[in-house]
Amino acid sequence: MRRIGILTSGGDAPGMNACIRAAVRTALANNLTIVGIRRGYTGLIGGDAVPLDRTAIRNIIHLGGTILETSRNPEFYTREGRLKAAAAIERLKLDGVVLIGGEGTFHGATMLAADADTAALVGVPGSIDNDVYGTDYCIGFDTAANCAVQAIDRIRDTARSHERLFFIEVMGRTAGFLALESGIAGGAEELVIPEEEVSMARLSERIREGFTIGKKSAIVVVAEGETPGISFRIAREVGEHLDFDSRVVVLGHLQRGGPPTLRDRVLGSLLGVAAVEALIEGRSGCMVGEVGGDLTCTPLEDTWQKKKPLDKNLRRIFTLLSE
Ligand code: F6P
Repeated sequence: MRRIGILTSGGDAPGMNACIRAAVRTALANNLTIVGIRRGYTGLIGGDAVPLDRTAIRNIIHLGGTILETSRNPEFYTREGRLKAAAAIERLKLDGVVLIGGEGTFHGATMLAADADTAALVGVPGSIDNDVYGTDYCIGFDTAANCAVQAIDRIRDTARSHERLFFIEVMGRTAGFLALESGIAGGAEELVIPEEEVSMARLSERIREGFTIGKKSAIVVVAEGETPGISFRIAREVGEHLDFDSRVVVLGHLQRGGPPTLRDRVLGSLLGVAAVEALIEGRSGCMVGEVGGDLTCTPLEDTWQKKKPLDKNLRRIFTLLSE
């Protein structure tokens, strides 16, 4: 292992820069050359690489986004696109590549490894959705969840003042991790997540019961699921059962930006070091992660083929504490 590349792919996540910085410093400490591949798989297909040294990664640990930029590139889902990427890896003389991203990134990497005898590939989980199997937390989740909690706190002030019902929609695509943890931390009354069937009549009834026992506001945290904006429909349907003054707030991309929290900086640093050390140890086709406090290396295909379950105990305590 002499020369490695690093890229960020898919949705950006706060803490990715901490991870890049850690990987570069670890590479340099081990006398490896490291280049940054710009704009994720788009840059990999085009061979768009920049040298990374200590100067390039100075003062970035506190920055959200990714200095390498990112993309979602449909061409990588074609064999032709992946073969172009494999050719670029060869041109760039890379022995290994660190890929920071989520399920889509690792799906792409699995297909690349199957299509071509290419460089060693090691993944690092970076996604605010936290839906990657093989790690308790993904880089970016903590910052996004804290952003959602701050929003819930602010909305609670105005909800309480007007005795209103609010639907707050958080990101997370088909996973409810962001909704569940921000809902617990924000003291939300109700949760709507893709993992569970929801009856509008029952949801409305529970909201009504809350006001009946003296609550002065209600917050329903809604996970966006497959269709961002779904909370407008839910609010309308609940409105058919309840005659309450309600409002909808969709947090959207606000949750993806801003300085990473301590947890995301530490996780990014830990996994950035682990990824480069894994390459040096000769590993390939796996994703570094942290499970129960231990560093792990999960086969890339498991990270997107296996479903990461919601923590049942956290789900239980949400209901217990919201009543
Ligand atoms: O996967 C991260 C994520 O922020 C999801 O929560 C969200 O559904 C999606 O990306 C939004 O993607 P885009 O930034 O391409 O609109």
